[in-house]
Amino acid sequence: MYKTKIDLSEKIRRNVITILNDRLAEAIDLQSQIKQAHWNVKGPNFIALHELFDKISDAVLEQIDDLAERVTSLGGTAEGTVAVASKRSKLKNYPLSITAGKDHLLYLSTQLAAFGKAVRAAIDEADQLGDADTADLLTGISRTTDKYLWFLEAHLQDKA
Ligand SMILES: [Fe+2]
Repeated sequence: MYKTKIDLSEKIRRNVITILNDRLAEAIDLQSQIKQAHWNVKGPNFIALHELFDKISDAVLEQIDDLAERVTSLGGTAEGTVAVASKRSKLKNYPLSITAGKDHLLYLSTQLAAFGKAVRAAIDEADQLGDADTADLLTGISRTTDKYLWFLEAHLQDKA
């Protein structure tokens, strides 16, 4: 932990940093999975899905940067290498064998939902720890995740 003049105690910062580094690991894992889908999707909706997956990947890349920089703003070390992310992320591994658009949509929506659930839980944790700014950051990430979950699921929902 680095010294900082920020008016949050070291104890609070330590706890929040752990939460942020956990979500950072998942975001890095998730972003690599979205790129995996972007590269390997096949079928009649190829170009639409290829481009949609890239757009979601860009959004998650921004979230990765925001999570990491909140860690360093709090005097912590952002633990954002792929090696660390792969050990720390609780997301399931992405299957390498799938090709059809529908299968990628199913897997990616499951992964986005799992990430969204972890982020939503982290909002309350940050709030309880008294770090409203981290709670706000996580709320923004959660809202964007929900939006892209809708973009993915809308392809699979022809009726309610
Ligand atoms: Fe690309």
